[in-house]
Amino acid sequence: MNIQTLQASLEDKQPRDIIKGIYSAVDSLAISFSGAEDVVLIDMACKLKLNPSVFTLDTGRLHPETYQFIQTVMNHYQINIDILSPDTRHLQKLTQEKGLFSFYKDGHQECCGIRKVEPLKRHLSNFSGWITGQRRDQSKATRHNLNVAEIDSAFSGKQDDLLKFNPLYQWSSEDVWAYIRALDIPFNPLHNRGFSSIGCEPCTRPTLPHQDPRDGRWWWEQADSKECGLHSELTKIP
Ligand code: ADX
Ligand code: SF4
Repeated sequence: MNIQTLQASLEDKQPRDIIKGIYSAVDSLAISFSGAEDVVLIDMACKLKLNPSVFTLDTGRLHPETYQFIQTVMNHYQINIDILSPDTRHLQKLTQEKGLFSFYKDGHQECCGIRKVEPLKRHLSNFSGWITGQRRDQSKATRHNLNVAEIDSAFSGKQDDLLKFNPLYQWSSEDVWAYIRALDIPFNPLHNRGFSSIGCEPCTRPTLPHQDPRDGRWWWEQADSKECGLHSELTKIP
């Protein structure tokens, strides 16, 4: 199936059917799990008995609650989650030269590049496609026109296009939480303390109800730069 046909076949379906459709069309897939409410992807894939390959980017700077939650999810679903670490040489160079909080001074791109983007790139070279928990309602500035399927030009290899799928793209936060509560799925306790979006501990803070969920991420930077490089460069499927 070509990518345009695949995209058309997934559009406007419910996330569970989108996930089912992706797995029947693409051979080698990875689910990216941030340790937040994207746990619903794991729940759906496990209940569909897809035996998903799941990974998380361990930046070394996550909240203790998030580490505990990742282990809880492994135990709950009886799955292994690949915990990806940054390259120690690059990390040591950064911390030796700039210390542990350089992102407050010169922006998050360098630290995110080492702790998230490079390990992600390395891992994705083993797959034809990856699945994220991104949703349109997470940011008016950067995610409002997200599609269900995309070509990930940032992480594609020289030969093949890497596919990227966002099964929750049309779900609201309310939809996600209705699913979590109705099915009694484990969730990160930080959500009960006002964290609507969860990233690294030094770069995430709780938000107020009227705020965009991503206002609590890299709050010292502009709204349109609140992407860490995992989701910035894409080619839209025509
Ligand atoms: S981020 O780019 O700003 O960190 P966000 O926290 O909104 O992204 O999460 C969107 C999706 O990106 C998650 O549902 C997940 O698929 C992926 N993602 C974000 N952070 C991680 C992480 N640490 N490990 C694995 N996947 C992640
Ligand atoms: Fe570094 Fe903050 Fe990015 Fe985490 S979110 S990798 S601590 S800049």
